[in-house]
Amino acid sequence: MANQTLLFPVTCLQALWAEEVEPVCGNRERNSLIFDDVTRLMDIIRQHHPETFQHSLNVASLSVAMAKGMGLSGEEVRDVAIGGLLHDLGKTAVPSSILCKPAKLTEGEWQQIRQHPIRGMQMLEPFGWAADVLPMVLYHHERVDGRGYHGLTEGEIPLSARIICIADAFDAMAFTRPYQAARPLGQCWEELERNRGAQFDVDLVSLFIPITADICAVNAFCTG
Ligand SMILES: [Fe+2]
Repeated sequence: MANQTLLFPVTCLQALWAEEVEPVCGNRERNSLIFDDVTRLMDIIRQHHPETFQHSLNVASLSVAMAKGMGLSGEEVRDVAIGGLLHDLGKTAVPSSILCKPAKLTEGEWQQIRQHPIRGMQMLEPFGWAADVLPMVLYHHERVDGRGYHGLTEGEIPLSARIICIADAFDAMAFTRPYQAARPLGQCWEELERNRGAQFDVDLVSLFIPITADICAVNAFCTG
């Protein structure tokens, strides 16, 4: 297992929605209106920074698996899917020259990147369906030890944002990026364990690791 990495769990927005959201969330008419908006917003992300588009699909897929594993309601699963898809929407307000910069970022550039949760929330506020998604967008960089972007501590960070946070960090480690190779699953899990109770929710790490092991069983390939 230590030498395995994950393949992308999902590569298609339509498939994610049809297979993971529609079957558990009954209001098809409302869902389809929401999906039209989400698709337009995801197109903006894809055009601005394709890597963020794929990352967002991965985070949504992993987050949905966790939400289902926790027995959340159909509407909560849908909102977690949307939160995963749009958590980095605010990065479209950051110049792609910064997002794609191969060299070390300046302090000013980091400041711009650190604004993306707030910018994403502002971009989503006009959408009536997004009320329960906004906390995931705004708080996905919080840490349970209070050292995140806004300094919220464990009990203050919404559960949905804690879910997105783990999926976000895991995807950054487990999948190949233009600038870094995927880390073996064993290393990703060690990193989650090392940071449980600091960056990550203790209980959610315990839930998340077996879920990725299950995904691995059907989607993994051996690297060494
Ligand atoms: Fe982010």
